[in-house]
Amino acid sequence: MGIGSMLGFPVRGGRFRPPLGYRRTVAWLPCIGDIFPDFIANSTTGRISFHGWAEGKWTFFFSHPAAFTPVCSTEIACFANAQEDFDARNVQVLGLSGNPVETQLAWHSDIERMFDVKVEFPVIEDIAGELATGFGMIHANEAEVCPIRKSFIIDPALKVRMIFEYPIRVGRSSAETLRVIDALQIIDRHEVATPSDWMPGKKVILPYGMSDEEATATYGSDWQKLSDYLKFVRLDA
Ligand code: BEZ
Repeated sequence: MGIGSMLGFPVRGGRFRPPLGYRRTVAWLPCIGDIFPDFIANSTTGRISFHGWAEGKWTFFFSHPAAFTPVCSTEIACFANAQEDFDARNVQVLGLSGNPVETQLAWHSDIERMFDVKVEFPVIEDIAGELATGFGMIHANEAEVCPIRKSFIIDPALKVRMIFEYPIRVGRSSAETLRVIDALQIIDRHEVATPSDWMPGKKVILPYGMSDEEATATYGSDWQKLSDYLKFVRLDA
């Protein structure tokens, strides 16, 4: 049973109509729970066939607006600096850019000069914007010609697990990205949920609907109850 039906929601609504000026043909976009589409693209480290490259590992796949721009430079340096943290979690990093590979590589040299960090992860080129459009990375009212800062976290079975969308002038955080990867990995390992502002080592939430008897059978006496629907336990990892 899905979470929606457990909570008593009807299967699908359908009554929402966007304001007139925003009505467009609705295209499919990858959503949480979908298998991320396969694609082939050139990248800064060679040709990538996505499913073959990504299967069996976690993927942090992000678009950025443009090479040789300020906020993007800080983001690429930030993700490159976190390379060991991504590796430790079995996460591959993959960027998407509207710039050609040669431009990306020249820019990465400049990033190395400015931030003293090497960009080891691949960044694919999407000059015509076909992939960016297909993945919902173009938000025309924010920027007509370049992608916004959109990120997907994709699991080893190629399923989309998290989607973030940031505007052009707000840079992303590697710390927040790693935090949600840790959250996704712990909920998969223990079938629990993570509360607001959860950090590794903090208490997690017992499965929705788990009875007190099941909780004691699973966790012993170490779990805490705030209500029938909110119970916590601290897990090692
Ligand atoms: C930036 O990363 O700062 C940026 C990106 C696209 C256009 C302008 C600025």
